[in-house]
This record gives sequence, C-alpha cells and structure tokens, in this order.
Amino acid sequence: MTRSSVAVPDSSPAPDLSSVASAPGASKPDPILCVKQFRKSFGAFTAADVDYLEIQRHAITALIGPNGAGKTTLFNLITGFETADQGSCLFNEHEISNLRNWQIARKGIVRTFQHTRALTKLTVLENMLLAAPRQYGEKLLRSCGWKWRGQDASNTGKAMDLLDRFSLAHMADEYAGTLSGGQRKLLEMARALMAEPELIMLDEPLAGVNPVLGEAILEHIKDVCAGGTTVLFVEHDMPAVQAISDWVVCMAEGIVIAEGTHAEVGQNPLVLEAYLGGSVPRGTVSVSDSESESQTSAEEPEPAASQATSGNQKQQES
Ligand SMILES: Nc1ncnc2c1ncn2[C@@H]1O[C@H](COP(=O)(O)OP(=O)(O)OP(=O)(O)O)[C@@H](O)[C@H]1O
Ligand SMILES: [Mg+2]
Repeated sequence: MTRSSVAVPDSSPAPDLSSVASAPGASKPDPILCVKQFRKSFGAFTAADVDYLEIQRHAITALIGPNGAGKTTLFNLITGFETADQGSCLFNEHEISNLRNWQIARKGIVRTFQHTRALTKLTVLENMLLAAPRQYGEKLLRSCGWKWRGQDASNTGKAMDLLDRFSLAHMADEYAGTLSGGQRKLLEMARALMAEPELIMLDEPLAGVNPVLGEAILEHIKDVCAGGTTVLFVEHDMPAVQAISDWVVCMAEGIVIAEGTHAEVGQNPLVLEAYLGGSVPRGTVSVSDSESESQTSAEEPEPAASQATSGNQKQQES
C-alpha cells in the first residue's frame, strides 16, 4: 500500500491569552471564529442563545457545561447541521451561517460527533477515503456495496499515514463496525483530519473511551493543535479539560456564562452554580468516570442519523 507523507506538522507556539479578560464575550488576539447573537429555539425552548463568542486561532478551547447546556446545539449551528434562527458566524472573517454543512467543511471546519458516525459496513480505510476532500465520497456513498480498489494512491497513502498515527493501521481492512467505541472515536478524529481542517471541533472525544485510550486521544489533540489546527472541543472530563486547554468556555441553559483559563472558570460562582444546580457536580469527573457514564453511547450499534442527541436523551440512555 502506498504511503504518502502526511506530516505531523511542525509545532506552532501556543497563543498568549494572558491578556484576555476572563469574561463572556472576551476579545481574543487572533480569533478564527466569531459567533454573534447566535440563537436556536426548538418550539418555545431556546437551546442556544450565544451573544458573542470568539475562538482563538491555534489554541485548544474547551466548551464545557452541564447536560443540556446547548454545547452540541452550538456545534451544530457553527457547522451547519442546524440552521440558526438568527445571528452570525464568521470564520476567518467570512460569514458562514448561510452555508450548508458540506460547504462549511470545505471552508476548513470539520467536526466529530458526540455519538460516533463511523459507517460500520465500510472498512476503516474506506471510512477514511470517504472523508478525503473533493474526492469519491459522494460516489462511494451512492454505490453501497461497491468495493474500494485503492485507485487513488495519494489519498490512500494519506489515509494510511493518519491511521498509523492513530494506531489504527492494522485495522485498515476491517469493517468499522468491529472497532471498539474508543477506536471509533480515534477513527472519527483521523477521518476529520483527512480534510486538513483549519478548525477541528470535537464533541466529547473521550466519551466511552477507556483511560489509556483517553490519554492517547488527549495527546493526539495536543499534536493536532501543535501542527497548526485550531481545536474546539466539548468535554465533561475536567481533568482532561485542565490538561490540554488553553481556554475554557462554559455554557448553561444555552448561554455562555463564563470564559477564562481552566483555573478561572473553575472558580467562577456561576459555573459552580450551573453544575451544582444540575444533576452531577462534575469538577472532579475523571476519565474513568466518563468511561462508565458514556459506555452505552460508545458501544451502542451505529448511532442514529440524529447526531444532535439531546442532553435529556443522553440522560435517559445512561
Ligand atoms: N432537535 C431538537 N429538538 C428539540 N430539543 C432539542 C433538540 N436538540 C437539542 N434539544 C434540546 O436543547 C437542549 C440543549 O441540547 P444539547 O444537545 O445542545 O446539549 P449539550 O450541552 O450538548 O448536552 P450534553 O452534555 O448532554 O451532550 C437540550 O435541552 C435538548 O433537549
Ligand atoms: Mg452534547
């Protein structure tokens, strides 16, 4: 199998956010993404109502908040999987809120899903090739049962390099359905990187992942950022958030209630209240706690088309 040179790119310096105010809506030195008055309601219920939020380029930003806070909804709005009722989203200063999800992906924002979406009846490698930009994805999707024969050496090489990097190369020819929940999370991240995004958005990358694999995923996230890709990730596991985040944004009831470093946000009374008012105070959640809590979702069969599984639904599943 042909290998190409998908590099683990050179390290970029971590951005200096020391002068950024620890307050919702704080301006950043070099925002890659800027959300303004972004709102989404389902009937009378407002799931997301973000007044103003900037995401710093080349940083790792964690989006935290209790179940049902609106984190996934905000991801869906930014990436075009839901349409906002109102508001604006600028990516590299260009409006993207009017674009479809595939157009946003082509602009350079790629996301993963809270409930993994690996195509179980395709092989791991085929899943990767499907994500290659402007390639055979749609054709492959349309032709169920069609066997990939490896015509595109460049994409195949790139895919194999990424699988190698994510310790999945030995599974390349296995059906994705045979992967464990943790391996599917790895596949999702590797697949997202096939598109060489400028911004990668990971919705609960550690959910359902055992502690060892969890550590590996955290290292991958740091590597991805060091390689120049901006990372925005949703996570409930506070030690993980603390370990890798340059900046933390906390949502509750659809609103951004706090921003700052992990330490600043962790001491914010509004944040403590939001968590203590919810089901579980999760400041002490560990990777292993996260694993048991999310086991159901990770090990369940191919998740439903509705990736926008709600907090309430998730609580019911657990
Ligand atoms: N398609 C939908 N229809 C109706 N309500 C929805 C829909 N999507 C989300 N919601 C509701 O919006 C709220 C926010 O959901 P969202 O999934 O964004 O929360 P979250 O912060 O990602 O939670 P979790 O941490 O549990 O994943 C929840 O109360 C949820 O029930
Ligand atoms: Mg969610």
